[in-house]
Formats: sequence, structure tokens, C-alpha cells
Amino acid sequence: MSFDLVLFGGTGDLTWRKLMPALFQAWRHGKLPAGGRILAVARDERSDAEYRNYIREKFAGVDESKQPSDEEFARFAELLHYRRMDLAQPEHYAGLKQWLDEPRPDQGRSGGPADTVVLFLATSPHLFVPVVQQLGAAGINGANVRLVLEKPLGHDLASAQEINRAVRSAFREEQALRIDHYLGKPAVQNLMALRFGNALFEPLWRRESIANIQITIAESIGVGTRGDFYNTTGALRDMVQNHALQLLTMIAMEPPSTSDADAIRDEKLKVLRSLKPFTPESVARDVVRGQYRAGTVDGKAVPGYLEEQKVPPGSVCETFVALRTEVQNWRWAGVPFYLRTGKRLASRDAHIVVNFREVPHPIFAGTRQANKLVIKLQPEDGLELHLLAAKGGGGDERLSPVSLDLDFDKAFLSERVGGYERLLMDAIAGRLNLFVRSDEQEQAWRWVEPILHAWAADTTPPRPYAAGGWGPAAASALVARDGCAWAEEQ
Ligand code: BG6
Repeated sequence: MSFDLVLFGGTGDLTWRKLMPALFQAWRHGKLPAGGRILAVARDERSDAEYRNYIREKFAGVDESKQPSDEEFARFAELLHYRRMDLAQPEHYAGLKQWLDEPRPDQGRSGGPADTVVLFLATSPHLFVPVVQQLGAAGINGANVRLVLEKPLGHDLASAQEINRAVRSAFREEQALRIDHYLGKPAVQNLMALRFGNALFEPLWRRESIANIQITIAESIGVGTRGDFYNTTGALRDMVQNHALQLLTMIAMEPPSTSDADAIRDEKLKVLRSLKPFTPESVARDVVRGQYRAGTVDGKAVPGYLEEQKVPPGSVCETFVALRTEVQNWRWAGVPFYLRTGKRLASRDAHIVVNFREVPHPIFAGTRQANKLVIKLQPEDGLELHLLAAKGGGGDERLSPVSLDLDFDKAFLSERVGGYERLLMDAIAGRLNLFVRSDEQEQAWRWVEPILHAWAADTTPPRPYAAGGWGPAAASALVARDGCAWAEEQ
């Protein structure tokens, strides 16, 4: 299958930091279909050779195991092309169309355009609407074309809807692939496998057996050089509206009837629609926002958010959010779902804890610690099932905690691929399961908006927390109110 992949924003951060390394890995793993071209598009004038050199240099910053040798890069670089485009100029799209339509018998094609054209918008989001309109006007929207949109997709519900309207005016829904790179992570795909590929957990996966569910996406990094972007975004838009909510939908959804993209996405949408809506009172009670101060992370002193580059003085942007919500349906009624994410926390650690209820009638003395399942998403990718067991010491009937540990990285070492690699290959192959549908994305905005509004009307600044910890004390108090504790406090 031949393909053309066009990267709008071809010299930008996302392209060289994530997409090129992912494409290189796909090529190295033999997953990139033969007969393909990768066209980077950006504003400045460069030749193909200059662009290839630019990317080669950028690879210096990539993990050592993922670095190409000179010989490998030379072969990979044959796929790379560059084209200058002013994205406001209709004639530049006409030129692109010509490039896409030109016959390339040397690529093993039958002389016509590629079987699949993937247009990846890795540009600043304010360009999405005009670029999509121009693509439609230039006729670069045929049945073989797919459009990939990278987050942030809008700033609120209205702006997300505006982008979706523009996309719909030129493309069909199934041509539009909205990326949430968390869905590309092997550990996240495993959530579906765990629930729907095994009979073991599903009968217990409900309010009768589960006391609460905690989703944590902790980062040890700060905002780095992205202070200006981050300051107008904040943790709620950057992480909760998308990544954390996607994880929640996968944990809470009903079993889909098939593994088809829409069967899965219909069930995820139902969860989003069942989330308890926030009111100004419940935001004040159930949502904690924080902002990091200077502290120590990994043994190194780091500045506070307000001292970061390009962050305006006195900013009230949140770098941490913890919240409590519920999924209002028969399966989950009354079960608290806690979400937590933040920058400059103690470590990079994303995991989900499913806390089971205590046994209804304890017969053993001592600890009554309930079972829990810890789904580790990153940096490790695995499962820990915490149980109680008898030591068999004689005369002592107290139970001791033990855990069953599964490490998927070890189990599937040679087959694991990174999130972007997986999503790019899916985009080329037209597999839509791991992309977000517009109604899911809009519903997620609908749910977070009351929080944004309540914060806008609230003059209290976010709660400070020291870098290197687990966020403001109020986040612990939020779960303690229900008699729970976050994983690191248990
Ligand atoms: C991005 C956010 O979507 O996800 C970043 O914009 C964040 O702020 C990143 O750092 C986290 O992704 P990962 O894969 O490193 O957990």
C-alpha cells in the first residue's frame, strides 16, 4: 500500500521531537508500508537535503537506543521531502495537490496518486480552521485522504465545535483522526485487553465490589520552555479534558459489542455523558487546583512555576488538578472516581488504582486491608494485584499483604512500540479505534467547562505545592473525606 504523509508544521517541535523519531522507529521495525513518502511542510525555504540534515541533527536529542546510525538515517531520509508553504495562500495548496497527484512509478505505484494520503496538522491550533478550509477548497479531501489533528483541539467547547464544523465541511467524520497520544500507549490499550479479553475481572468490575477508582498522571517535569503555551492552557485543559478522561472512559465503559472503532467510541461517549455535572458548589468542594513552587525533584533544585521562562508574574494558571467525580449509571452509582495530574510532582508515574471493597464478614484477625488492582501505565507498564495471604507461621492467623506482579514490558519486550509510532501506523492503515471522535471530544469539553467557569469567577489563587511532592495537602483531604488515601499514602 503506497502512502503520502504530509506533516504541516514540518519544522516544529512536535515533528522533530515525537513524529520523526516515531516514523524512524516504524521504518526500523519494518512497519512503514513500502512505497511511501513523507512530506514536511513549513514556511521557510529549504531543499530536501537541507531538511534531512535538520532532522538528522535533531535526532541527537533522542534516546540513545532510538538513534539511527548514519547508514540507517541515510536510507530512512530517502523518504523525507520538504516543501515551503504559506498556509494562507490558496495557490500553495494547489501546488501541494499537484505534488500529491503526480505519478511516481519509481515508488512501485501504478503511476497514480498514493493509495492513502495522511495530512497531519502538527501546527499551532489557531491554524486548524483555515488550513482545513483551504484543503477542502483545493480538493485535497478525496476518499483516500485522512486528516490527523493533534491536541489542543480547542480551548473550550465553542472553539472545539468551530474546529469540528470546519473539519466536517471538508471531510467525513471517519476521515478525521483526533489524536490523544495516551491512547497509543501499549499500557492504555492493555486496559481494554484486561477488561474485555479476560473473564476474571469483569464480574467484579462494578459498584458491588469496587470501593473507588483513582487515576493519577504525575509528571516530574515542569513547563520547561513552553511557559507561554502552558500559561493559557493549564493542567485541566492540558491533561484532564483529554488524557485523564480517556483513561476514565476505558475503565468505566460497558463492554462494546465488537472491537470496531464506533462500537468502542459509542461506549466511551456514554461514560462521558454519565459523568456527574459540576456546579459552582461542587467545583469548590470536589476540585483542587494547585501551582508548584520551588523545590527538589530527582535530587535537583528546581524553580517554581512563577519563575519559569515566559510565565507572566502573578499567574494563576494551575499546574495541578485533583478532583472527585462519579459515573451516574447502574454499574457505578456512588463509586468515587478520583483524577489527579500535575507537573513537578515526586516522579513520573501514571497509574490507576482500583480499590476493592473489604470482605463483608472478616474472620481473620489483624489487617483488613482490601484488595486492590494497580494498573501501571508509565514508566513501568504492568499490573499489580494486591491480596492478603496467610504466612503459615503456625498459631498466628493474621494475614499479610502480598502482590502478584506482571511486567508487560518484559513479557512483550520485542513487540512494544511507542504511542506515536502506533498512532501514525494506524492513521496510515485507517484503523480508527485509538482516535477520538468529535462527539467524545465535545462532551469532554462540556464536562470540564463548569470548572473553568467557576475558576474564572474565583479570585482565590491555586494552592501552592512544593515541587517534588504530591501536590497540595487539599488533594489528600479530598480523598480522606471519603475515608480513602492516594496510593503513595496507603
Ligand atoms: C501532553 C501535554 O499532551 O502530554 C504535556 O501537553 C505533557 O504537557 C504530556 O507533558 C505528557 O505525555 P507523556 O506521554 O510524557 O506522559
